[in-house]
Amino acid sequence: MQSAALASFAPLSQSAEADVAVIGSGIAGLSTAWELARAGLSVIVFEANRLASGVTGHTTGKLTALHTSVYATLRSKRGDEAARYYADSQSAALRHVFDVASELGIDCELEGRPALTYCEQPDGVEALRAEAEAARSVGLDASFVTETGLPFPVAGAVRVENQAQFHPLKYLRGLVEDIIARGGRIYEGTRVTRLDDGDPCRLTTEAGVSVSARHVVVATHHPVFDHAVLASRLTQHRDLVVAGALPAAQDPQGMYITAEGGKRSVRTAPLSDGSRLLIVTGEAFTPGSGEDTAAGYARLQAWTEQRFPGVTLSRRWAAQDNSSTDTVPLVGRLPTGGENVYVATGFAGWGMTGGVMAGTLIGSLVVGSPQRWAGLYDPARLGSSVRSAPEFLKAQWDTGKHFVKDRLDTLGDGTNGPVRDLRPGEGTVVRAGGKPCAVHRDDQGELHAVSAVCTHLGCLVAFNNAERTWECPCHGSRFGIDGQVVQGPALSPLERRDAGDL
Ligand code: FES
Repeated sequence: MQSAALASFAPLSQSAEADVAVIGSGIAGLSTAWELARAGLSVIVFEANRLASGVTGHTTGKLTALHTSVYATLRSKRGDEAARYYADSQSAALRHVFDVASELGIDCELEGRPALTYCEQPDGVEALRAEAEAARSVGLDASFVTETGLPFPVAGAVRVENQAQFHPLKYLRGLVEDIIARGGRIYEGTRVTRLDDGDPCRLTTEAGVSVSARHVVVATHHPVFDHAVLASRLTQHRDLVVAGALPAAQDPQGMYITAEGGKRSVRTAPLSDGSRLLIVTGEAFTPGSGEDTAAGYARLQAWTEQRFPGVTLSRRWAAQDNSSTDTVPLVGRLPTGGENVYVATGFAGWGMTGGVMAGTLIGSLVVGSPQRWAGLYDPARLGSSVRSAPEFLKAQWDTGKHFVKDRLDTLGDGTNGPVRDLRPGEGTVVRAGGKPCAVHRDDQGELHAVSAVCTHLGCLVAFNNAERTWECPCHGSRFGIDGQVVQGPALSPLERRDAGDL
């Protein structure tokens, strides 16, 4: 995000109409907007914050059809055709990035690289041999190897040739420029808080401005308008990332991920002085679980410096991903959204190829000529469970209520120990006046208090001590210490509380 500034756009201030409204400006949203603008439709993009500042702005930027070990699983659970469609669609997305970058003249540091999924323990070898065979059977140039280019030994790896890595924001900068050149409109700082499906659909922004659009695409990572039907089938995790300069001679020349627990993901990117930026991901945790994320960063840093002694770490960040219960992204018509509302979510950490794939897939649905793999990704594949949406919704509410009640019973009273003992940089959830209250002490010693009840479906938030955010364990909403929404699906801030009462 520091190395690729995108243009700024003003918030929407007056009512508008378009053929297509896209909510969310990550790679899925902007790719969809670009496909449809290129097809001649009028397009509006709404972004609650800054363009591509969510998951896309924090990705490690791999473009690959090798998603850890998805093919053996897909073949056994959904059959050979599903596995082949998955490989074909992800490979097509990879090629599409090359084609679009070439067509638009985008310099986005596209580099061809092999993708490898490796294991360090011998007991992981058989599964990777099976994955190599499954990946080969669906047409990928895959093999089982024991040499990887990594500066440490592995027990084995699946290697797929002709994959790639890129700078996602430089790529999206090119798409944004072309969307505008084709008459598209983009509004930042514009949170859409209401969606009424129909023909046309009606949107309402937080500022009360209304928009009508024939088609709406919900590309907000975790969908903000799904009435909890998809939310009950998405799990979320956050990954920590550290990065720093590595001498070019020590570049392992591939993109790597572990297949076993204690995940690590590794790639490098070019730096202007000819060295490489080593990017290492790991220490995944469930947002809102109360994990000690500062300790997670320390472990990831220690692992990176031990495995790559030449690295000089200088950056760290985190990214959030969600996964569908059957590991395949949910892309297509929103099951509860009528005929004209589409969704793209559940990329399981593979949202760069997945987001580009979603752009072409939703584009094909909107113009009425679905791609052949549309059924694989159709969110309605959840079948009977989607049809029983009210029961699922109730179950979700019950879960949330129980979660609140159970946690409430264990909360300390905010008028004594827990708040008094908070050190600068720490946060805790306590009971204050019988209500759960999230309290943070900043570096100056000042207390900040907000309601601890998530405004999405009512679970209790917990503190992330490295990022200093309040996070919800149920569907991954994140809030600043002032209660403002950092990441949905929540649309409303946490209520402010008077810290003087604590
Ligand atoms: Fe759904 Fe918090 S209850 S994100």
